[in-house]
Amino acid sequence: MALIPIIYIPDPVLRQVAVPVTEITDGTRQLLDDMAETMYDAPGIGLAAPQVNVSQRVIVMDCGPDDAPELHKMINPEIVDRSEAKAILEEGCLSIPKQTADVERPASVDVRYLDVDGKEQMMTCEGLLAACVQHEIDHLDGVLFIDYLSRLKRDMIVRRTLKELRQAGTGAAGRG
Ligand code: NI
Repeated sequence: MALIPIIYIPDPVLRQVAVPVTEITDGTRQLLDDMAETMYDAPGIGLAAPQVNVSQRVIVMDCGPDDAPELHKMINPEIVDRSEAKAILEEGCLSIPKQTADVERPASVDVRYLDVDGKEQMMTCEGLLAACVQHEIDHLDGVLFIDYLSRLKRDMIVRRTLKELRQAGTGAAGRG
């Protein structure tokens, strides 16, 4: 296992549409293990491969309590159903260090994905996990949580982030 450097805005890789994984190899499993280690180290509750400069459709998440980890590794995740009910949660992003904002999303989503053995799985996500999985899948489409904000708020967060990164070098931290 190894830590992988996290990339930050305005890196263009964060705006690319990531490609699906066509064959799950030991390399894919290694990537997921390394992403999980990187997420826990940050620390964060979710990480998408584009955030470690790998433009592939894989994500890791752990929204469990500290004393009961619930690690999810998803390959080619896809939202197949969304609740009409919405929820507003405060979000942050490891690629936009130290900035947070309220984001409204469907309160519950059903996600279809492949596990590390290539088996198709379905999972209903609610609460924090629902926000997290939507945030991470957005990363695979080049979408960031700041895209849901007003232009004024978004510009402010981008300015603050660039200032933060200049001051902190690469030692900055965020959430997901
Ligand atoms: Ni993020």
